[in-house]
Amino acid sequence: MGTFKKAVIVALCAAFFAVKWYSPGFDAESLRGARVLVTGASTGIGEQLAYHYARFGAQIVITARREKVLQQVAEKCQSLGAQKAIYIAADMASVSDPEKVVDFAVEKLGGLDYVILNHIGPSPFSMWEGDVEHTRWLMQVNFFSYVEMAWKALASLEQSKGSLVIVSSLLGKMASPFVAPYTSTKFALNGFFGALHHELAMKNSNVSISVCTLGLIDTESAMNKVRGVTNVPAYPAAEAALNIIITGATRQTDLFYPWFTQYVALSKDWFPSITNYIIQNSYNYNP
Ligand SMILES: NC(=O)c1ccc[n+]([C@@H]2O[C@H](COP(=O)([O-])OP(=O)(O)OC[C@H]3O[C@@H](n4cnc5c(N)ncnc54)[C@H](OP(=O)(O)O)[C@@H]3O)[C@@H](O)[C@H]2O)c1
Ligand SMILES: *[C@@H]1O[C@H](CO)[C@@H](O)[C@H](O)[C@H]1NC(C)=O
Repeated sequence: MGTFKKAVIVALCAAFFAVKWYSPGFDAESLRGARVLVTGASTGIGEQLAYHYARFGAQIVITARREKVLQQVAEKCQSLGAQKAIYIAADMASVSDPEKVVDFAVEKLGGLDYVILNHIGPSPFSMWEGDVEHTRWLMQVNFFSYVEMAWKALASLEQSKGSLVIVSSLLGKMASPFVAPYTSTKFALNGFFGALHHELAMKNSNVSISVCTLGLIDTESAMNKVRGVTNVPAYPAAEAALNIIITGATRQTDLFYPWFTQYVALSKDWFPSITNYIIQNSYNYNP
């Protein structure tokens, strides 16, 4: 056998094990008929989550504020193979809507196997100028609604040995300029669901919790903010979504996507001054 052929075989084996390691025991068939709730599913990563679950033949409830857009996403989910695709318009800034959405999903699907909390309210990408009200509002949308929905869904997930998946960010582990309200909501999520993860494990709960740490993803809302401001590479929303689904299905505690976000988070603790220097100089900012 020639050296080239050997190299190809070695490369294929390496790729095979890399994929194995990446998605331990993921069985796409396990998602057929699974009862899934996805929030923030009218656009961006949430929309891609809905389409992947649809291709896997799941039964999905999707939610966000814009009913017309949700209707289109639900129709596309049907055409992609979803067993059910139902939508409900809701505003996570309201105190009652989060629970209402969980009740709706449990009723329509007869229970829940996966709850993917993914929505975020719009927030400016700019220096903090004292808007406390916006920060309070964003905390309700990006954090308190997650807490309310998780608590409401827990009984159903216990019954089904289900999974709760929290879509968080590298900005939930490491602060960065121009996003003070947003980064606070993500730190809050990491703290709360980190604690809940311990408690469920100590209680031998049937429910798994996954917290997903994402780097920059190429959704329209994110790209509109950072275009021309930074040249940090953006990763595809569809791939981010698939990784989130695999993380939930295999009941892993954490996802880091892209993979190097884990090392960026580490570098901030191990080499704070150099990391701060890099962060502060990675934006085009002229005072
Ligand atoms: N994109 C990135 O670079 C990036 C990086 C790290 C982490 N993440 C995380 O990934 C997740 C998805 O991000 P994305 O970029 O896909 O966001 P996106 O495109 O801005 O989508 C946000 C979703 O939330 C919904 N939403 C907004 N306000 C809402 C409200 N008050 N009530 C209910 N739903 C509301 C939006 O729909 P309506 O407008 O119809 O309500 C939309 O479906 C977020 O948790 C984000 O923090 C993203
Ligand atoms: C875990 O699931 C089993 C059914 O498979 C159920 O009997 C048990 O009550 C569940 N545990 C909790 C804490 O609800």
